[in-house]
Amino acid sequence: MRPLVAEIDLAALRDNYRLAKSLAGSRALAVVKANAYGHGAVACAEALSGLADGFAVACIEEALELRAAGVAAPILLLEGVFDADEYTLCAEQNLWCVVQGEPQLAMLEAASIPAPLTVWLKMDSGMHRAGFAPEAYARAYQRLSASGKVADIVKMSHFARADEPAVPMTHAQAELFDSVCRELPGEESLANSAALIAHPATRRAWSRPGIMLYGANPLPAGPWPALRPVMTLKSRVFGVREIAAGEPLGYGDNFVATRPTRVGLIACGYADGYPRLASTGSPLAVDGVRSRVIGRVSMDMLTVDLTDLPGAGLGSEVELWGNTVQVGEVAAHAGTIAYEVLCNVKRARRVYLG
Ligand SMILES: Cc1ncc(COP(=O)(O)O)c(C=O)c1O
Repeated sequence: MRPLVAEIDLAALRDNYRLAKSLAGSRALAVVKANAYGHGAVACAEALSGLADGFAVACIEEALELRAAGVAAPILLLEGVFDADEYTLCAEQNLWCVVQGEPQLAMLEAASIPAPLTVWLKMDSGMHRAGFAPEAYARAYQRLSASGKVADIVKMSHFARADEPAVPMTHAQAELFDSVCRELPGEESLANSAALIAHPATRRAWSRPGIMLYGANPLPAGPWPALRPVMTLKSRVFGVREIAAGEPLGYGDNFVATRPTRVGLIACGYADGYPRLASTGSPLAVDGVRSRVIGRVSMDMLTVDLTDLPGAGLGSEVELWGNTVQVGEVAAHAGTIAYEVLCNVKRARRVYLG
C-alpha cells in the first residue's frame, strides 16, 4: 500500500480548541469549512462534540454533511445561502446563516420558512469583500427584525489584516463596527484566530477560530501560543540512489548536484497536496532529522537529500510536515500560507488518533 498517510491528532485538536476558547473567554465556533481545512470535517466535528459551542462552515452542503453524521450543535453558514430554498433547509435543520448582502436579505424577506432563523448579520467594516456597508447596516438590521423570519440576530464582521499585529487596520475595523453596533441589540462576533491571539480587544460573545484549531500559527512572528499541530503528513523512502556532482535531478533544471549526493525517493507529490513551488530547499524530516527537498516536486513523488543522513535509507519514515517541520515553513517555501497547503491534502489516507 502506498505509504502516504495524513495522521490527524484529535487530542491536539481538542487542546487547541480549549486554548482558543480560553483566549476568547466566551463562546467559540470551531471553523470546520473546507473539510476542516483538509483534516476531515465529520471526524473533527465529532471529536469536538460536547466541547465546541458550535461549528462554522462555508455553505449548506458542508453543514448537511455534518448534520447527516449526527452533529447536533449549532452550525453557521459563513457564506450564507445561494438560493431561497436553502432558508427552508436552514429552518428545518436548525442551521444559522450569515446574511452578507442585499440579495440574501431580500431572499430571506420573501422566503416562506417553517420557523424563524438565527441570522448573523455581516458588516463590511473595511475588508470590502462581503457584508453591508456601515451606513447601510442599521437599516439591514431593522429589515431583518421586521421580517418575521428571524428569531435572533448576531452582529458580525471579519478582519482583513488581523495577522499583521502592527497594522492599525484591525483596530480601525473594530472601532467602526462598534460605532455602528452600539445602539443595536444582540450578541457580536469579530475575532478569527489571528485576532484572538493578537487583538484581545476584539473578543466578543462569539469568536470564530479556524487555523489555530489545526495547530498552525496565523501570525508571522511570536510569541506564539502553545498550539499543537494536528496533521502529520507522513510517507516513506522507497528508493535510494547516488548522483555525482554536476548531475541533474528530476524535471527541468531545478537541481544540479554540487557534490556526490544521496537521493531518497518519497511517495508524495503535488497531487497529494505537497506544493510544487516548495521544490529544492523545502524542509522535511527523515527518521526525525530535518533535511530538505531537492529537485522539483512531481505529481506523485518528490526527492530528498540523504547525503548527511547515512543512517537513513529504504523504508525511512519521512515527515512532510507535523511536529518536526511546521506546515507553515513548507507553505512559506511555496510562497503561500498553511491554510492553502492543508486544504489541498485530499488524496492521502487519513488516520485518526486520539
Ligand atoms: C468569516 C470567517 N470567520 C472566521 C474564519 C476563520 O479564520 P482563521 O482560520 O484565520 O481563524 C474565516 C476563515 O476564513 C472566515 O471566513
